[in-house]
Amino acid sequence: MKRWIKWTAGSALLLGVIVVATAASGLYLAEQKRNRYIDIKPRPVAYTTDAQTIERGRYLYASRGCTDCHGAQGTGREFVNDGKGTRIVGPNITPTGVVARYQPEDWNSVIRHGVKPNGRPVLVMPSEDYNRFTNEDLNALVSYVRQFPPKEGAQAVIDLPHPAWVLYGLGAIPDAASRIDHQLAPSRPTAAGVTLANGQYVANMCIGCHGADLSGGKIPGAPPDWPAAADIRPGTHSAGTALARYPNAASFVSMLRTGKRPDGTPIQVMPFESLGQLSDVDAQALYLYLNAPPGSVKQEVGSTTAGGQKSSANTVPSGPGGLKLPG
Ligand code: HEC
Ligand code: HEC
Repeated sequence: MKRWIKWTAGSALLLGVIVVATAASGLYLAEQKRNRYIDIKPRPVAYTTDAQTIERGRYLYASRGCTDCHGAQGTGREFVNDGKGTRIVGPNITPTGVVARYQPEDWNSVIRHGVKPNGRPVLVMPSEDYNRFTNEDLNALVSYVRQFPPKEGAQAVIDLPHPAWVLYGLGAIPDAASRIDHQLAPSRPTAAGVTLANGQYVANMCIGCHGADLSGGKIPGAPPDWPAAADIRPGTHSAGTALARYPNAASFVSMLRTGKRPDGTPIQVMPFESLGQLSDVDAQALYLYLNAPPGSVKQEVGSTTAGGQKSSANTVPSGPGGLKLPG
């Protein structure tokens, strides 16, 4: 009996040591990981100021999630505060904010690649949703953001509980830069319209939460009490997934506008402030894509046909002629 107690105490102590050691090395690795230098050579973005480009940029900013985390005027905003250790604030991106000294290539780097001008990864911003932006859309978005009047605003805050940092350090919560294939060429433009191709393009903004194949599940790094994202893989409608609740485009579009299911219950977590701004055409195209018969579309949104081939179009070649990230 005595021996048994000794053994148990011994293994509990050993277990305790292992837990502490894992946590400590996880935190150490997290520190290394968030300070790693990511060497990409992004193309510069064209700064354009014609009314049509700015209008397209305004639409993208409002409908693709930027507003939810950076505010309608770009001054930054607290968008998660669960009172239990998770508090996240998107920074001021008006000309007086973090972007004050941005070069044309820095915008591409942050938005499409999740890499800050100093070569460090963004931790929360879902750049994987934006990697597939066409060059035209990236230019439009950046041109719109650059014309925000300079204003005082928030600084970025990424407060996560210790376990989340440990999981980040151990690789269980990947940051955007580690999820992105930085060699992939940008998507080629798809004509606006209620088409599968346009729907697939719009669906890129869902992968940060619903996963690259849209199969849903727990959102990595999210507060524990958030529900899992639904399985919305194209063509799973008949398999009784959440998509089955939306028998037609009108019911789906109404969900995006109201944040509610057809039975009136509210849907958690989804960024409806942005999703509600999707145009009827984009929202209906999205519905068409999510309901495409199985096998008719490639389900990996991130590697769409339009820009699937590897090329240097997203980045400029390294070497003497290439653009260098400062720092
Ligand atoms: C889910 C919230 C979220 C969304 C959506 C989002 N951002 Fe961010 N953004 C952040 C956070 C948080 C940071 C601070 C960096 C980090 O994630 O560690 C950031 C940083 C930035 C930065 C500055 C990076 C730096 O430090 O140099 C820019 C520029 C930016 N975002 C632009 C955008 C634009 C444009 C969009 C829309 C296409 C967008 N963001 C969408 C949360 C978000
Ligand atoms: C910030 C994370 C986030 C983003 C971005 C997001 N979703 Fe969701 N989505 C969720 C979560 C979490 C749930 C589960 C909500 C619940 O159970 O209350 C969900 C549920 C759903 C559902 C099921 C609704 C129901 O009837 O229960 C659909 C359909 C859906 N999302 C579609 C989309 C589409 C399409 C996009 C992109 C245009 C998108 N989501 C973007 C997090 C997200």
